[in-house]
Amino acid sequence: MVQIFLDTASLKEVEEFSKWGIADGVTTNQKIFLQEGGVDFRKRVVDICNVVKGPVSVETTKHTVEELLAEGREYATWHKNVVIKVAMFGNGDGLKVVSQLNKEGIKTNMTVMMTFNQLVLASKAGATYVSLFYNRAKEAGEDPVQIIRHYASYAKESGCLSRLIVGSIRTPEDVASAISAGAHIMTIPSKILAQMPFNKRSEETMKEFDEAWEQFLAMRKPEAKQVAQIK
Ligand code: E4P
Repeated sequence: MVQIFLDTASLKEVEEFSKWGIADGVTTNQKIFLQEGGVDFRKRVVDICNVVKGPVSVETTKHTVEELLAEGREYATWHKNVVIKVAMFGNGDGLKVVSQLNKEGIKTNMTVMMTFNQLVLASKAGATYVSLFYNRAKEAGEDPVQIIRHYASYAKESGCLSRLIVGSIRTPEDVASAISAGAHIMTIPSKILAQMPFNKRSEETMKEFDEAWEQFLAMRKPEAKQVAQIK
């Protein structure tokens, strides 16, 4: 079954969607935290971990292997569910970081990926999760649906354990296409997730049923009176 992660750092949103019973984890990044204003970074991460009870990806921000490793090791001490997000740097440094953190038993999510080759390298380096940016890949001229299909069958056939997270979602239709193509996990912004239960025809049908029920109750009234008289 596909897993659903919330692509947010809002505690209110995490609390709300956790009540829906559909939230398996959370992913964050620098832009997502920017939307939260001046919150205490560490406290917010821990608070989210305590609500969602699943993996919570926290992105590293440094630019050298040593600094990235130190940052990742530090975040990993904050909560057992923290997963270290490491970007796919073009010079291979991100792969070095993922490989080393994996050796130390720290879970990673290799991120900002646009191609099948990047996903394969990240999984070879030992990433727990590999993140494909659906719409950003599309904007770069790639075919994200095809990449998802290829990675899903590659993972199945090769026994590779890295789970594919599909992010950069802009519409509910993106979600449906990515899941149908074989995404293991979808990370979805709250604005999109909130639209997913809604369907115009479902609303019309519910209204029709409500009206039928009102008519049924109105018809039952004399019958109820009759029963009362017999007693
Ligand atoms: C995934 O982990 C990222 O947080 C996210 O989906 C990035 O997408 P966007 O910046 O294109 O919205």
